[in-house]
Amino acid sequence: MSSNQIFEKNPNLISDYHNQLKIYASDLVNVYQSEKIKRSELENANKQVLRYAGELSSTIKNLKVSHLELKESYLDTIHRLVMAAEFKDENTSEHLIRISNYCRFLAEKLGIPKKMVEIITYASPMHDIGKIGIPDFILNKPGKLTNEEFEVIKTHTTIGANILNNSKSEILQVAEKIAISHHEKWNGKGYPYGLKGTHIPIEGRIVALADVFDALTSERPYKKAFSIEVTCNIIREERGEHFDPEIVDIFFEHLDEILEIKKVLIK
Ligand SMILES: [Fe+2]
Ligand SMILES: [Fe+2]
Repeated sequence: MSSNQIFEKNPNLISDYHNQLKIYASDLVNVYQSEKIKRSELENANKQVLRYAGELSSTIKNLKVSHLELKESYLDTIHRLVMAAEFKDENTSEHLIRISNYCRFLAEKLGIPKKMVEIITYASPMHDIGKIGIPDFILNKPGKLTNEEFEVIKTHTTIGANILNNSKSEILQVAEKIAISHHEKWNGKGYPYGLKGTHIPIEGRIVALADVFDALTSERPYKKAFSIEVTCNIIREERGEHFDPEIVDIFFEHLDEILEIKKVLIK
């Protein structure tokens, strides 16, 4: 029997069939409407997420800027404080910048972790901050110092450490270590404590070499700059005496790069 014959025999079936179709159609419309609503809700949620992400990234950007500004003003303050101490001495701002650059370079080549290299870079210029407590007539005396005067000069290490101690800042903590130890010698004949070898903090051992190298190769009111050759001979002789032999070896291994750093005053 064909479908037409079925409908002819049962006319009610047509209206039932139509009704059923209407229900399906309205269900379909409902499903479509609710899908539409869901999609627009999803789009709105998506837009909101994007807006949040945008706000978050600009907040992070602003935070980074203020963090950077804070760090810069902090470092600037330190630099000015150090300059105040160095004004009493014959040293210059260039000396501090070179020390910082030599120390960063040597620390990197020694394989010191990156974060500590950065800390040493900022802390090393504070090595002589204790000179602020040394009388000018001793600090700037042109002739040879008496034993008593030299004893006073030595205290710039402990004065510096006292100025820097108990800080929460990692930079100042390392600066304190450097201030107290940069005149110690590998052979134990340095001051203030006569520490020997690896008992001297590595930061102090690095600064010791950088400081002497810079002092020897720089002109001062009472002396001319030593040639690189003479300076290198002195450093070679002091390998394992004044200086940590490993740092001296690294120094000579990279002498060309160190001389490049010497040429660049301000980085
Ligand atoms: Fe010093
Ligand atoms: Fe110095």
